[in-house]
Amino acid sequence: MLGNDEPRERDRLESIQHSVDTFTTNILQGLPIRSTWNCLELGAGAGSIAYWLADHCPDGHVVAVDLDTRHLDGGRATNLEIQEADITRQDYTPGTFDLIHARYVFCHLSDRDEMVARAAGWLSPGGWLIIEEPYDLPADTSPFPLIQRILTAYQHSYRQNGADMTWARRLPALLARNTLTEVAFAGNLGHMGGLEKDRWRPLIDRAAPALLASGLVTDADLTEFAELLKDPAFIDIPQMTISAWGRSPSDI
Ligand SMILES: C[S@@+](CC[C@H](N)C(=O)[O-])C[C@H]1O[C@@H](n2cnc3c(N)ncnc32)[C@H](O)[C@@H]1O
Repeated sequence: MLGNDEPRERDRLESIQHSVDTFTTNILQGLPIRSTWNCLELGAGAGSIAYWLADHCPDGHVVAVDLDTRHLDGGRATNLEIQEADITRQDYTPGTFDLIHARYVFCHLSDRDEMVARAAGWLSPGGWLIIEEPYDLPADTSPFPLIQRILTAYQHSYRQNGADMTWARRLPALLARNTLTEVAFAGNLGHMGGLEKDRWRPLIDRAAPALLASGLVTDADLTEFAELLKDPAFIDIPQMTISAWGRSPSDI
């Protein structure tokens, strides 16, 4: 389901960026970012946060790594380096990065706890690790029976692919356990329908084959979903994003 071999992947990545970039950049703006910082963007997707970091660290360097770099533009900034790699197999030099950011990536990894420890080890003394992951709200509490079915299938297909869409709750404790200091966290409620009509359309379109294969959702349901999105009274909260960040001790 999460393979990048469909044209709809670009729409999905842009939809994610559109929906959470402001939340993410508000968090980043709260950090004492310096123009000289070396940054690492794990699972960079379509690149909006890597580009933001490159703009804000013009005298530093930004590495944007992803399994699939087709949606990344290395020509966007001279201090931007694109790497096509699996982050679970990368071995950066310990103490390299002043800021490491990841969004909606760790939930898909089987060794996600270990990945937090590895990323923490790549931080320079005083460097910041920011991880943002989805936290699914219970599908059966949606006020819309159709959305209960769609979200049940959606969450089921992610689980089938090994994703943990509630792991995000562990993030603050995990950062602290990995000796990060100044641990803080924030949440951002997702929208389905309402003013964000189109936000979930690309996500459901992208997931449609898996939803149908689950047997929990029919073609008629997907057609009805497209109609529901036109209804101004259709507003739901399917998921939230939990972001947590912390700082490597500066005296190591
Ligand atoms: C849901 S997208 C999020 C993209 C971006 N972080 C954002 O929030 O806009 C997940 C991204 O992580 C990448 N990814 C997943 N597993 C990865 C791995 N093991 N190594 C590198 N990238 C990975 C995918 O290719 C995809 O671009």
